[in-house]
Amino acid sequence: NKGKYEHYMQKEIHEQPESLTTTMRGRLICGGSCKSQTVLLGGLKDHLKTIRRSRRIVFIGCGTSYNAALAARPILEELSGVPVTMEIASDLLDRQGPIYREDTTVFVSQSGETADTLRALEYALENGALCVGITNTVGSAIARHTHCGVHINAGCEIGVASTKAYTSQIVVMAMLALAIGADTISNQARREAIIDGLFDLPSKVREALKLDQEMKELAKLLMNEQSLLVFGRGYNYATALEGALKVKEVALMHSEGILAGEMKHGPLALVDETLPIFVIATHDACFSKQQSVIHQLHARKGRLIVMCSKGDAASVCPGESCRVIEVPHVEDCLQPVVNIVPLQLLAYHLTVLRGYNVDQPRNLAKSVTTE
Ligand code: UD1
Ligand code: F6R
Repeated sequence: NKGKYEHYMQKEIHEQPESLTTTMRGRLICGGSCKSQTVLLGGLKDHLKTIRRSRRIVFIGCGTSYNAALAARPILEELSGVPVTMEIASDLLDRQGPIYREDTTVFVSQSGETADTLRALEYALENGALCVGITNTVGSAIARHTHCGVHINAGCEIGVASTKAYTSQIVVMAMLALAIGADTISNQARREAIIDGLFDLPSKVREALKLDQEMKELAKLLMNEQSLLVFGRGYNYATALEGALKVKEVALMHSEGILAGEMKHGPLALVDETLPIFVIATHDACFSKQQSVIHQLHARKGRLIVMCSKGDAASVCPGESCRVIEVPHVEDCLQPVVNIVPLQLLAYHLTVLRGYNVDQPRNLAKSVTTE
């Protein structure tokens, strides 16, 4: 049932404040005095010790689920102190990459049925690693075959393009980082700030959804373009990849997510006065580096659209020519959850304006059950 919406993708984008609330329900728990909050992931509590002791955490997934893991990687590294590596499921299988008994492998999948991810799970089980699932589908193959895991509880996702599952996956992985890091005193203040941020997150996402009309206007401007580049770094490298994936898969427009730190190593050659470039420059530790990227793109007459934190417009925009999208500020590791929203809206409106099928993009299936 699409309710008041025209498409499932649109409905699923707009219901993210609710799906995120459901994802967190019962999992943020009051400590003794209720001053200190802790995270309780029922499916993992008996395995946290093993995860903390593992030599490496390996995230494995495909498409949007891979991007969600990439968004959570920095906070997991920070709070756990365990090295975290990333694997696209098919690539791990192609290489038969090393997986050891001392590894914790984390399988991220909305459907829980993706063939490549499932094959990679079988491979990790054969190699003796601890296998953790993060899925949206109770009873799915990945949920059944992993040793333990977390259901993201985002509710059924019908649009082929994953939207609300992405944001719920990131939140679950941030909670995973909090749970793993919960035995260290040194990062307690950081953990509390993130937990406060999680409580506020649904309302910040609701605020970001108010950009709907603005993103529709932007889509009108971009609808006849051939290509859109999306620059991000740090926590928002994943946002760049995921934003570009949405634009290409539903709006059928070429789009590429680019790690801003790689700009001078090739992508800069593409910049001219015609190609639109979306730059994610919200406030975090990478902000000044991203400001200098904007200046360099501007110096080469790039057609810039800059996403920044509320109040930062003047300090990110070098000239009149640049368009700004202001988003609410949240704790750095949660910012990808807010930042993807305008890009989801942009992909949605581009698709409608270009006259393509929103919920069933050509050639794609919701669940990819063949390798
Ligand atoms: C569970 C119940 C939830 C109930 C809550 C009350 C289920 C599915 N969930 O939620 O209805 O309200 O207790 O305390 O009955 N698992 C995997 N692999 C995965 C995902 C999950 O092995 O990919 C396992 C978990 O380790 C766990 C079980 O499935 O044993 C349920 O996981 P989850 O729903 O996340 O647990 P709770 O949040 O505790
Ligand atoms: C993109 C999209 C796909 C899936 C990928 C993995 O919007 O939906 O990239 O994310 O096929 O699917 P799951 O998460 O079900 O394993």
